[in-house]
Amino acid sequence: MPDSGVNKARRRFLTGAATVVGGAGLAAATIPFLASFKPSAKAEAAGAPVEVDVSRLQPGQMVTVEWRGKPVWIVHRSDKMLGFLPELDDRLRDPHSTRADQQPDYAQNEYRSLRPEYMVMVGICTHLGCAPTYRPEIAPADLGEDWRGGFFCPCHGSRFDLAGRVYKGVPAPTNLEVPPYRFVTDSRILIGEDPEAVS
Ligand code: FES
Repeated sequence: MPDSGVNKARRRFLTGAATVVGGAGLAAATIPFLASFKPSAKAEAAGAPVEVDVSRLQPGQMVTVEWRGKPVWIVHRSDKMLGFLPELDDRLRDPHSTRADQQPDYAQNEYRSLRPEYMVMVGICTHLGCAPTYRPEIAPADLGEDWRGGFFCPCHGSRFDLAGRVYKGVPAPTNLEVPPYRFVTDSRILIGEDPEAVS
């Protein structure tokens, strides 16, 4: 992706966070995470892994952190959210994540994650690099009765489910990207480093 696309996405992610969070009613929980886990400028420039404490992230909540200049989302998916994923397969372009460049091997599964309850995803639309918004609601008026929670890109209407899998019939060609990451402990995630790094 060209740098300009990433920069555009970054700007939208940074300015759009308050809107998304406010709409979902998560401002109190999420904004402190964003402030707490932003890496230092020096670490960011070096592309260092970013460690995130998710112990306070409640089911349904999302936190956005920055890694290598990109927004990375972590969603604590509830059992209800996970239950919707298998039934969406027929409506998705690549439900089984066959595009190997969109996720590490260890995230090529139904949930596109190491652990089902935590989704970790680069928050940049695979169409032209806008920042999709988190829409966890079920059947909101603007997204339709079939909506089971996911991400909506306001630029050209691409839709992704709660595993970052793209719907059929939208401009985005591929699923959202899963970055390398591993669990340091049950509640600490290191973004930017594969599990094999410590095995
Ligand atoms: S950039 Fe997201 S739909 Fe075009």
